[in-house]
Amino acid sequence: MQRDALVAALSQRLGERGLLREPDDMTRYVADWAGDRLGMPLAVARPASTEEVIATVRLCRDHGVPMVPQGGHSGLVAGALPAADGGELVISLERMNRIRAIDPISFTMAVDAGCILESVKQAAAEHECEFPLALGAQGSCQIGGNIATNAGGLNVLRYGMMRQLVLGLEVVLPDGRLWDGMTALHKDNRGYALKQLFLGSEGTLGIVTGAVLKLTPRATQTRTALLGLDSLEAVIELYGLARCDCSDLLSAFELIPRRCIELAMEATSTLSDPMDHSYPWYVLLEVSASGPLDLGAMLEHLLEQGMERGLVLDGALAASEVQSRQLWQFRESMLEGQRRRGEHLRTDISVPISAIPAFVEEASRSVMEASPECEIIAYGHVGDGNLHFNVLPPPAMPEAEKRAHLHALEERLFEVLDGFVGSISAEHGIGRTKQSAYLARLSPVERELAEGIKALFDPDGLMNPGRILPPRG
Ligand code: FAD
Ligand code: LAC
Ligand code: ZN
Repeated sequence: MQRDALVAALSQRLGERGLLREPDDMTRYVADWAGDRLGMPLAVARPASTEEVIATVRLCRDHGVPMVPQGGHSGLVAGALPAADGGELVISLERMNRIRAIDPISFTMAVDAGCILESVKQAAAEHECEFPLALGAQGSCQIGGNIATNAGGLNVLRYGMMRQLVLGLEVVLPDGRLWDGMTALHKDNRGYALKQLFLGSEGTLGIVTGAVLKLTPRATQTRTALLGLDSLEAVIELYGLARCDCSDLLSAFELIPRRCIELAMEATSTLSDPMDHSYPWYVLLEVSASGPLDLGAMLEHLLEQGMERGLVLDGALAASEVQSRQLWQFRESMLEGQRRRGEHLRTDISVPISAIPAFVEEASRSVMEASPECEIIAYGHVGDGNLHFNVLPPPAMPEAEKRAHLHALEERLFEVLDGFVGSISAEHGIGRTKQSAYLARLSPVERELAEGIKALFDPDGLMNPGRILPPRG
């Protein structure tokens, strides 16, 4: 009854474009990039303004119906998927995609939360500025989703995660009140940092409708290199060298194992082996700057030193922007290569940077001991201590057995991680997928505080329930 009444009221308030109810119209809101899905939503609301978001949330609260904020469906922990019981209302921000203002002197930009990351980057570039968040899903993920997941990506070692890139926020709270925190101040020490609670809250505390973003000067020069190395110890030593030798202008330092070069070439037929020989490990690194610096000389000096010390065995240097894009294509295409392998274990762990070689060795031993036929693919953001330690199940394993097998491997992996005092989620968040591993590691004090925050913002438990924390009993 309540559900029918809500749908009727929403239909009247949001109009035909603002509310989808037919299963055919709703299919693209039920699955994410990885192909995961649970169930259909009650309906999909597509508000076109903050006022319409407020009206939608108020109606949900009045009718006691749970809501799921949704961005670009690129999240990797099932947080934006509507529940299996069909009782949740999806609230998609896709129609709220206006760039509100850009101030190139203050290096700030105000946007609607439904703006796609790529379009925000383009708009900043038109004003000789840069919004430095960069990730494989930037053509589809939205700023609101980036905020809700505190997204990281390829340039975190230089510019930080989303947490460091947001100055102000506008949020519709679970009871329909608006929190207008759209300040464009670089420094602001007034009391508690409310906005930081929403960063990484995965849609459980409110719906982000707008944000003021921090920009940087647009890089006028970029140098990209793909290097071949023979051990993880060499990768880490090169990282330390690169940080110091490049005046801290290193903007990316990505680890790619040989298997990922092969997966990338499988996924994109125009890619060919980047070097004459193959190497167990590759590093994709980039330095960038604005102003009159000789970045070419800087990178050459680094590579000479790396070779002299026996760390770098070979390298491909991009001589143009087109070549640089080709090198980055290996990093992008290897994701599609993995996706095509079907169900596999996806993780986004972190350990102290210097501990990466020891961690990978110990974790690989533990996983292979339990599953000698599986394939480990460890890659990622070495400059942040953040690895995607992924595992493909044994090729001959029946589909029905894969999930339990991969879960058992994840438990072994996380046990090793605990020994390194690492994090089970460095960038993708908890959502539903990582909930049990997260709860198992929360101290009683942390759990009490987390539940207290959720209860304060969302006493009725209607905002993205069951994500991060279990639904209240
Ligand atoms: P969605 O998937 O739609 O939602 C994600 C979560 O945010 C859900 O819990 C949802 O409820 C909530 N949410 C969405 N919009 C709002 C809003 N307006 N208000 C409140 N809550 C909201 N992540 C990284 O950190 N680094 C990477 O390098 C990276 N690379 C990726 C590469 C690929 C190919 C893919 C598919 C994903 C990658 N991701 C990465 C994960 C993903 O892109 C990010 O988590 C992204 O920030 C999600 O944004 P989205 O708009 O797609 O959110
Ligand atoms: C990456 C995503 C999956 O770094 O986080 O490839
Ligand atoms: Zn990543």
